[in-house]
Amino acid sequence: MIHQFETVIVGSGGAGLYAALEASQRSKTAVLSKLYPIRSHTGAAQGGISAALGNVEEDKPEWHAFDTVKGGDYLVDQQAAHILAEEAIQAVYDLENRGLPFSRTPEGRIDQRRFGGHTRNFGEGPVRRACYAADRTGHMILQTLYQQCIKNEVSFFDEFQVVDLILEGNTARGVVAVELATGELHILAAKAVLFATGGFGRMFKITSNAFANTGDGPAVCARRGIPLEDMEFFQFHPTGIMGLGILISEAVRGEGGILQNRDRERFMERYSPTLLDLAPRDIVARSIMTEVRAGQGIRGDRRIDDYVHLDATHLGETTLATKLPDITSFCKTYLGIDPAEKPIPVLPTAHYAMGGIPTDVQGRVILDGAGTVVNGLYAAGECACVSVHGANRLGTNSLLDLVVFGRRAGQHIGDYVKQADQPQLTAAVADEARAWIAQLTDGSTGPHGGHIMDEMQVSMMEKVGIYRNADDMKAAMDDIQALRERYRAVRVQDTGRAFNTDLLEIIELGNLLDLSLLTAASALNRTESRGAHSREDFAERDDDNWLKHTLAYLEDDTVRIDHKAVDISIWEPKPRTY
Ligand code: FUM
Repeated sequence: MIHQFETVIVGSGGAGLYAALEASQRSKTAVLSKLYPIRSHTGAAQGGISAALGNVEEDKPEWHAFDTVKGGDYLVDQQAAHILAEEAIQAVYDLENRGLPFSRTPEGRIDQRRFGGHTRNFGEGPVRRACYAADRTGHMILQTLYQQCIKNEVSFFDEFQVVDLILEGNTARGVVAVELATGELHILAAKAVLFATGGFGRMFKITSNAFANTGDGPAVCARRGIPLEDMEFFQFHPTGIMGLGILISEAVRGEGGILQNRDRERFMERYSPTLLDLAPRDIVARSIMTEVRAGQGIRGDRRIDDYVHLDATHLGETTLATKLPDITSFCKTYLGIDPAEKPIPVLPTAHYAMGGIPTDVQGRVILDGAGTVVNGLYAAGECACVSVHGANRLGTNSLLDLVVFGRRAGQHIGDYVKQADQPQLTAAVADEARAWIAQLTDGSTGPHGGHIMDEMQVSMMEKVGIYRNADDMKAAMDDIQALRERYRAVRVQDTGRAFNTDLLEIIELGNLLDLSLLTAASALNRTESRGAHSREDFAERDDDNWLKHTLAYLEDDTVRIDHKAVDISIWEPKPRTY
């Protein structure tokens, strides 16, 4: 079946919906998602969206932009960070005007709380910059944008899994997707295609990411020759529930929660004397692991699954109930503890991909270091790399990224489609996808996809995790290549067509394997430590050789690495101290 739209957006999280909201004002727009839209992972972003509103204390966009650049260990493109911080203010007020129920100050303004790495006056101390709706900020953004998209008559293709991108030369022409309810292949022809498929934390064993976060957009693009940028930078959020990885929002520390080791010492005093528990995430995550490795975890056995405590008992029941209700409920449900009474056992959890599909600040996908644009192809949100997060993203800048750059991409699409031709596609454009699905469902037996998934996640977690070295990463590359080889023989066990989740999971596994390979190859290649990429064998940041973005191209079974310059046009890179 072939559908005709001017704009097709793949992914229905905050970036996809914001882009749809803008694009649909000037073009016939469809949003395709493997989920029901308000189940998208934006809903799991708990603690806030940053904007220098200055509602509770003085703040300025330039302080915000600087914090973003420094937090990203100077791998951030600085003009992009400037746009992010400047446009944040209008973006938050737009969300408010569209109905987002922000938490309020007693005077009725949008309330703001502290978050890691956000400071006043270029690093003097923490600043209250995160606007929030209790600890359900992302959820509220999704609800707000979805309602507005319905009002704008966006067409929704819910529970459709993207499997291919249609390119004619250097121009996007649409996508191919499987309808989960029927197993049927659909072709969505479009003048403009935007990927907003979110992250791919499921490549790691312990993650805050939902099962759906399998990097479908970046993987589809990579297989069509588009490079992925800065894949080596994957953020571990310091506070996941021990053993499970479920996110305990940084907002707990923003409201005054503190990290403690087995001696009940507030150990962040030693690692970050100015920002303490609200240092950027790469620093806090490494500090926790350093404590654990030194036998200062709560069990004290030095194993990598030992943990530390996040103490929120002193915050009081009212703060927990009004500002952190979901966190309180998660602790009760998953740990059987009340955070008003007992500290929360936490450990870093794979959380956010700083890298992804390279774009310019209009959301247009870039093919190379020279900035060659792929006509009609856009990306926004976590699956994209603008790059405003560089080597380490600051908390609350992800919701901001998807709102600011989702909106910008949607606006640019609105212009682009007015001068682009409507593609005339035939069923043949889906031949490759059809052949792949036929192979996966040909009824023969093969290795179990679940075992491959598990081995991939363990390998990535142990060998391409918080601390890295060449031997481990080479071993991970070998593991992933062997798993990709086994994957070729995997077949679905459920050969039915309706809601075949077995098929969906195998498609997702293929995507994760390709992204794991690109991640491990990019990480092995970068022989320095910067932000979330921390190498035991190259412990220092090396601006002379490595102040550049990675572009990784998937070429059959190999990864070709190229580079792209970093925009350092505003602030000169300096050593990071907090
Ligand atoms: O900790 C959190 O609430 C997560 C926010 C984020 O990743 O931006």
